[in-house]
Amino acid sequence: MIKKGIILAGGMGTRMSPLTKAVNKQLLPIYDKPLIYYPLSILMLAKIKNILIIVNKGQLNQYKKLFPKNKNLGLNISFKEQDKPRGLPDAFLIGEKFINNSNIAMILGDNFFYGQNLSKLLRDCAKLKQGAKVVLHNVKNPESFGVAKTDKKNRKILRIVEKPKRFISNYAVTGLYFFDKKVVNYAKKLKPSKRGELEIIDLINQYKKTNKLSAEFIGRGGAWLDTGSISDYYKTSAFVQAIENRQGFKIACLEEIALLNKWINKKDILDSIKFYGNCEYSSYLKKLI
Ligand code: G1P
Repeated sequence: MIKKGIILAGGMGTRMSPLTKAVNKQLLPIYDKPLIYYPLSILMLAKIKNILIIVNKGQLNQYKKLFPKNKNLGLNISFKEQDKPRGLPDAFLIGEKFINNSNIAMILGDNFFYGQNLSKLLRDCAKLKQGAKVVLHNVKNPESFGVAKTDKKNRKILRIVEKPKRFISNYAVTGLYFFDKKVVNYAKKLKPSKRGELEIIDLINQYKKTNKLSAEFIGRGGAWLDTGSISDYYKTSAFVQAIENRQGFKIACLEEIALLNKWINKKDILDSIKFYGNCEYSSYLKKLI
């Protein structure tokens, strides 16, 4: 089982400026929670407890105020600063010590996932022993993402390309990855691409070369949404608002997941309520217990 995960929450969020001038993008709200709650909930649903959050230099203090201190949601959260964005695989160089020769999950701090069978899919992905696994989702605009072409039965990835100019497939490579311990050595071998960054697709292609690449799919009943631009950001927020207000369940309530995982107890939830204060999130927590 993969027991460690990295959330890459660096980047300047330039496309969201001036919103991101003083506040890190991942701390801005998606409806009723900071964006980072959503990728963190994904790692927690995969039963991953040891988490490294990589943040921009100078933004550590913002993050340290974020989570309740009591038992830390049953997690071991540590932080590392990135002095400047160097591409996604930099996470494995910054996180080398944290990874310490283990298999690792990595999720981008601005990625949003939702879907009925998601928890099972995540737990299955976390069973990875060898190689790498990517999570694919059908999108209308594949040219904006890493894209994978698969064989007819979706068993094998035939090609995987970063932002292909010519159409190869509608399957975008989402920002959730599972790697074996070789990832650090592979990341060390990478050279910056034309855009001057280390590319995750180049890293994934190293696994493909040795036939060690597999894929999971988030089908039509699931959602992988963007928070890249201001407009996408608000659309994701509206999605959360619509689902939560209809069902009365919250998406990415960290305490709820920790409680279901038996990492915290009712007393810890009461501590969380004190930490958050009088708000709707606290009322939801009260109802849980
Ligand atoms: C990055 C990756 C791309 C992936 C995307 C998912 O793109 O390079 O392969 O599909 O994240 O969010 P970027 O956000 O750097 O354009």
